[in-house]
Amino acid sequence: MNILVTGGAGYIGSHTSKLLKKAGHLPVVFDNLSNGWAEWVKFGPFAFGDIRDEEALYRALTGFQIEAVIHFAAKAYVEESTRLPELYFDNNVHGTISLLKAMKRAGTKTLVFSSSCATYGNARTQTIREDHQQVPTNPYGLSKLLCEQVIATSAPVMGLRYAMLRYFNVIGNDPEGEIYERHEPETHVLPNLIRAAMSGGNFCLFGTNHATPDGTAVRDYVHVMDLGLAHIRAIDELSQRERLVSNVGTGSGVSVRELVATVEKELGARVRVEEHPIRPGDPPCLVADNAHLRTWFDHEFKPVDQAVREMAATLQTKA
Ligand SMILES: NC(=O)c1ccc[n+]([C@@H]2O[C@H](COP(=O)([O-])OP(=O)(O)OC[C@H]3O[C@@H](n4cnc5c(N)ncnc54)[C@H](O)[C@@H]3O)[C@@H](O)[C@H]2O)c1
Repeated sequence: MNILVTGGAGYIGSHTSKLLKKAGHLPVVFDNLSNGWAEWVKFGPFAFGDIRDEEALYRALTGFQIEAVIHFAAKAYVEESTRLPELYFDNNVHGTISLLKAMKRAGTKTLVFSSSCATYGNARTQTIREDHQQVPTNPYGLSKLLCEQVIATSAPVMGLRYAMLRYFNVIGNDPEGEIYERHEPETHVLPNLIRAAMSGGNFCLFGTNHATPDGTAVRDYVHVMDLGLAHIRAIDELSQRERLVSNVGTGSGVSVRELVATVEKELGARVRVEEHPIRPGDPPCLVADNAHLRTWFDHEFKPVDQAVREMAATLQTKA
């Protein structure tokens, strides 16, 4: 299939593009490079553009005879969203509406949307099922929830088949090291932790008094290659059903202190931890109930220590 990958120059989009190509699809990347890298668009053609530009999207959809869209493009920093909510609503929600309008005009009927565990807000249960209440605690999560609602409301009218995949925390990189997690600034925990271990610099740990066993935030870390495969599987699934709403997580929680210990063990180096207060809008614990995921994606997830080893090996060669 010819698949438009919005945000395909970014972290998850570039990894998924690599997997799409391997699976015999043509990934056409649509990205404005606001947070991505032109050199990572190497698995198919590049359509440079902003998702808020409906005409540019329409040209890409028709010009490349696109059959399905995987919509990664978004601003995705929780902390930034608390300072610049209007930017998040404009980029993420307006951008998604513009995509739906372009898809309607072009007659493109299949969409996989990157949603997030941030749509749930504070967990009321130990693991979170898809029918858990969605009360986001930050503007980023709210922007994703609004996108979900816009898609779900528009789909029946447009005859659109859609998947909404609510990812938990994504880690790891391409085992071949061709692409990896590279953000400037980097706000994600694992690359920062590995860099601190390699350089001897400080690692900023946000929140040591959460209501969790060791006081640090507990997250469900899913490997980016597993997540990419879930997208390809979701597109197949949409040939048989009209709607798929699913968590993508491993079902196991890891605290930040446990992550620090894993990095220290795998790299054989001490990490200098600098403790900071909880960041606004950061829930204490987000772990997926993945029973539904397992009904359509029969897959063994890569463990966290493997992701740490692969990321460390890649970052060592790029440092
Ligand atoms: N990384 C995670 O842990 C995580 C967890 C849950 C959900 N998600 C979602 O997954 C998606 C991808 O996340 P990522 O970590 O790869 O982020 P990323 O920032 O690395 O990639 C996003 C890409 O989208 C592009 N983009 C942003 N706004 C755009 C616009 N208006 N027009 C065109 N392109 C635009 C950026 O240039 C970038 O290449 C996002 O939708 C994010 O909300 C990520």
